[in-house]
Amino acid sequence: MGREVGEKGGEGLVFGTDSPSPLRTSMKQIYKAIGNGHTIITGLTQYGKTTLAIVLMLTRSIFDGRTNPVFIFLDTKHDDSLLPHGFVVSDLMDLRYHIDNKDARIIYRPPGTNERKKHLTDIVNLLFEYKERSTHKNTPFLLFVDELQLYAGKMSHHEGLERLATTGAGKGILGVFLAQRLQDIHEQTLSQCNNTIVFYMRERPEYLKSRNLTALIQWMDWLKENKWHFAYQTSENNDWELHGPVPLPASNSLTESDFLP
Ligand SMILES: Nc1ncnc2c1ncn2[C@@H]1O[C@H](COP(=O)(O)OP(=O)(O)OP(=O)(O)O)[C@@H](O)[C@H]1O
Ligand SMILES: [Mg+2]
Repeated sequence: MGREVGEKGGEGLVFGTDSPSPLRTSMKQIYKAIGNGHTIITGLTQYGKTTLAIVLMLTRSIFDGRTNPVFIFLDTKHDDSLLPHGFVVSDLMDLRYHIDNKDARIIYRPPGTNERKKHLTDIVNLLFEYKERSTHKNTPFLLFVDELQLYAGKMSHHEGLERLATTGAGKGILGVFLAQRLQDIHEQTLSQCNNTIVFYMRERPEYLKSRNLTALIQWMDWLKENKWHFAYQTSENNDWELHGPVPLPASNSLTESDFLP
């Protein structure tokens, strides 16, 4: 493997670690890709999915600097590590209030029952409705959905998710879908995602092969041993690459003003 870093796309590459492929450290490509298409983040519990999502929530530069993007995290598991990062709401009325204000980050806690499915459809329909208004037609929305499999099984029908996946990106309503395994992800959603970020997952090699993800099979053991590292493929890079852990935000320095627009 050469030491030279190519002119094109070679930014933030680290050679000479024990990784099976050079490790990227720059997040630039990933940020750009997330602003342009839907994204899947998978990985076993505690491997760093939510932490990466929080870093993304804090990155306004995913979208054009002239806009005021609104980031919404559908906090399926009521994960307290999210609390410092946005206004917490649990119904559409409060969600509307914060979207009207164009507040930067909103944590939506749906009920812990199957009722959550309808909440997702209502949220998606609401975002499409906002896009029709003159006040919000240029507002990018990024909707994170944690534990996607609890909203829709692989082959099931889900009105909101399908609307988001098929027509959201063109309207500036983008999804980031989190789950433990690729196999769990709603098939129609998976087919509409341009970007895939993979921490260690318990996935059968045959399944990965069947999805043309052979590159990942040989990296899984390494990802298992190297928590918080991930493999990714986006609209900004053609081949799968490995990435080091994202730097953690300094949580003690956050204040409410950090999530106001
Ligand atoms: N890049 C990182 N650097 C330092 N610590 C990290 C990093 N990513 C994750 N962690 C730590 O690892 C732990 C688990 O991370 P996280 O909650 O993001 O995992 P998860 O994949 O969302 O798990 P679950 O599926 O259980 O929700 C947390 O305590 C978090 O602070
Ligand atoms: Mg999590």
